[in-house]
Amino acid sequence: MYIDKLKLVQFRNYEQLNMESIPDGINIIFGKNAQGKTNLIEAVSICAGGKSFRAGTDSRTIMTGRKNAYIYAGYVLSGRNHSVEALIEKGSKSFKKDGIPQKSIKDMLGSLYSVVFSPEDMRTAKESPSLRRAFLDSEISKIRPSYVDALKKYTEIISEKNTALKKSLKNNVTDLIEAYNEQLVRYIKIILKNRLSYIAKLNEYVIQTHAEISGGAEQIELKYGATIGYEDIEGQLQRLVRREKHEMQVACGPHRDDMKILIDGQDARVYASQGQLRTIMLAIKIACLKILADSTGHTPIMLLDDVFSELDGARKDHLVKALQGFQAFITTADKSDIARVPNAGMIRVSDGSAAFLK
Ligand SMILES: Nc1ncnc2c1ncn2[C@@H]1O[C@H](COP(=O)(O)OP(=O)(O)OP(=O)(O)O)[C@@H](O)[C@H]1O
Ligand SMILES: [Mg+2]
Repeated sequence: MYIDKLKLVQFRNYEQLNMESIPDGINIIFGKNAQGKTNLIEAVSICAGGKSFRAGTDSRTIMTGRKNAYIYAGYVLSGRNHSVEALIEKGSKSFKKDGIPQKSIKDMLGSLYSVVFSPEDMRTAKESPSLRRAFLDSEISKIRPSYVDALKKYTEIISEKNTALKKSLKNNVTDLIEAYNEQLVRYIKIILKNRLSYIAKLNEYVIQTHAEISGGAEQIELKYGATIGYEDIEGQLQRLVRREKHEMQVACGPHRDDMKILIDGQDARVYASQGQLRTIMLAIKIACLKILADSTGHTPIMLLDDVFSELDGARKDHLVKALQGFQAFITTADKSDIARVPNAGMIRVSDGSAAFLK
């Protein structure tokens, strides 16, 4: 699939934008700082994933002083035209798929597919496990919408169980905890199964993609750091009850797990250089793109924000090669990067306007 139209109304610093005939393949979005490059790919990511990849609330995307923002993304799939529209208002947002209003964000997913790589992903690699869990959950949700329900249910039960455990000093909560555990088994199984199989798929592609981008300099491996094993979940939960009552909180489970990134067998968080980490995250994101392509049977769109900074020339060239066969949007403030991508579409962004350079 590829995006061929993008319309924006009162979205961030775009009062009105109407782009047509956007080509498949790589498009370079270039311009000086603070002109609206990231805003463009943010708009696409909202239509694909239902929410922005940037921190903050949706209402921040509404142009200052306005009541709402509108995005129209037209895309081509198997030769047919489709669209996703988003209307963002203060405190709410609504979507249309091919002109039909969607009841929830979950309903609007599963049409336009994209993977984003942005500077914020460096935080995913470096900071707390919760960011890596969120990354895994978000990618799995794209290929398995039922995963979202299991995750939601699991989170609800964990929260109720935590509330019960907080009262365990005063009350006898053993029966209640066992009842929660009984319910949890099913959801833990679903979550673990999906996360383990996603990481296995990631590894298949990451090793290859990483070798392509880095020239095979280092060995990368992703490992799931589980606090509860997949076998005999019931027994494991049972054995934790005493500890949980003592600590007055849920001790283990998928909400405490991590995705470990190893470089030459060592924890990348402490071992890898800034450039190495960037390459690893990039390889992971391209792996996500390929998994999404395998599972949907269509080529998703890659959105790369500021990806070229901190990559050396050879890595930049390898990255461009790895993106062959996909539509990609790459933002850059450095005009000289354009020369790296033969036949790229060139979109010049300047103060809330964007136009193709012929
Ligand atoms: N809600 C909003 N209303 C109006 N302007 C906004 C809004 N949100 C952000 N902006 C402005 O949009 C401008 C462009 O932002 P954007 O992040 O797209 O820049 P950029 O071209 O990617 O710059 P850089 O090269 O620094 O990454 C900024 O000056 C910012 O202040
Ligand atoms: Mg930017």
